[in-house]
Amino acid sequence: MHHFTYHDDRLFAEDIDLTALAEQIGTPFYLYSEATLRRHISVFRDAFKDTNALIAYSVKANSNLAVLKVLASEDAGADVVSGGELQRALKAGIPPEKIVFSGVGKTVDEITMALNVGIYQFNVESEPELNAINALAGGANKKAPIALRINPDVAAGGHEKISTGKSEDKFGIPWSQARELYAKARAMEAIAIKGVDLHIGSQIDNLAPFETAFKKIAALIDTLRADGCAIERLDLGGGLGIPYGEGAAPPHPDAYAQMIKQVTAPLNVQLIFEPGRMIAGNAGILVTRTTYVKNGEERKFLILDAAMNDLIRPALYDAYHDIWPVVREPETPLEKYDVVGPICESSDRFAKARELPAAKPGDLFAIMSAGAYGASQTSQYNSRPLVPEILVSGERYSVIRRRPDFETMIAGEEIPDWLG
Ligand code: LLP
Repeated sequence: MHHFTYHDDRLFAEDIDLTALAEQIGTPFYLYSEATLRRHISVFRDAFKDTNALIAYSVKANSNLAVLKVLASEDAGADVVSGGELQRALKAGIPPEKIVFSGVGKTVDEITMALNVGIYQFNVESEPELNAINALAGGANKKAPIALRINPDVAAGGHEKISTGKSEDKFGIPWSQARELYAKARAMEAIAIKGVDLHIGSQIDNLAPFETAFKKIAALIDTLRADGCAIERLDLGGGLGIPYGEGAAPPHPDAYAQMIKQVTAPLNVQLIFEPGRMIAGNAGILVTRTTYVKNGEERKFLILDAAMNDLIRPALYDAYHDIWPVVREPETPLEKYDVVGPICESSDRFAKARELPAAKPGDLFAIMSAGAYGASQTSQYNSRPLVPEILVSGERYSVIRRRPDFETMIAGEEIPDWLG
């Protein structure tokens, strides 16, 4: 459920008329609905309210400080994967004791920063990483709280590029090495084993792979405990899919929660979740204007002022996003368009042969479900400045990231003396 609705055929974000807003901000821009963010996190939280679960929002999905601040005010923790994300989470007021640190390549600087602030848990993805954390924590006279991320060898995820739980993926510790590495971790001076972690993929639209993986991990916890490991936490990662269009029906968080409670009830562990897309995805849109309509030999092209550098999901994962006209004119006939951006790549295409109301230059469109992995995956390719981000709350809005001007965009670049 989200708060993007038509009033008299004009698209509104909560109580804000997007046509008027686009005049003021200029296009393209991202827009997030605060009420939708709050709703999504509360639906997730309510699904687990009878447990003491930690909901550690996965910052990579949308890392804007204002978005993090909204989620912090809903008591969310954070799942971070870099020093930058850790600093963002702290700056937004998420307390370190609600922060978990994931990722296969944590650097010395990042581990040190996390030890210094006292995060809740390192999700450790390899033996060399475990050794590095042990050495750094030992050097600082600390004990690092850790979970090992175990790769359960279960295939899941909306696209091969976002599946992480198979044995050939780079993620996690191979199933066959899990017990041995826990035994090694137990012997390490500066390591405090807290739990087990897994994350099998993203945009998972049915419960079966989750259930298979979680049952495997539950059995592993029994084995580890029998080996003498005190396991008190179970981090189940993120990955719950969202509806990207009409007819899509991924599981409701309540069904997900019910399955999880059944599988994990006997374990008596604190559950940790790392939802990203489920919180931010349908809380955001990308608003863009038509630059040209071009009649090709075989196809019609709707050329927008947004491009793959602004939203890379269709180009990278063949992702589907609904595209809504910002103003609906019921009489307008439908046309089939390839919806593209201005970048010099054939993959700069948001949709192929998509039926939309016939458009003319200047017409506004909203690319829907763009709140997760949209702005956080942007680049300045083709020297296109990063697009602004707007947060709407009722009838208020605020620019939560400005559009950089040309000078700002090139501010970090230097021409060496020898080039004159
Ligand atoms: N935890 C870990 C360890 C992860 O790697 C991820 C996502 C999450 C949690 C959050 O997963 P979510 O609940 O958002 O599915 N850029 C891709 C998605 C990449 C997901 C990477 N990891 C996309 O646009 O579809």
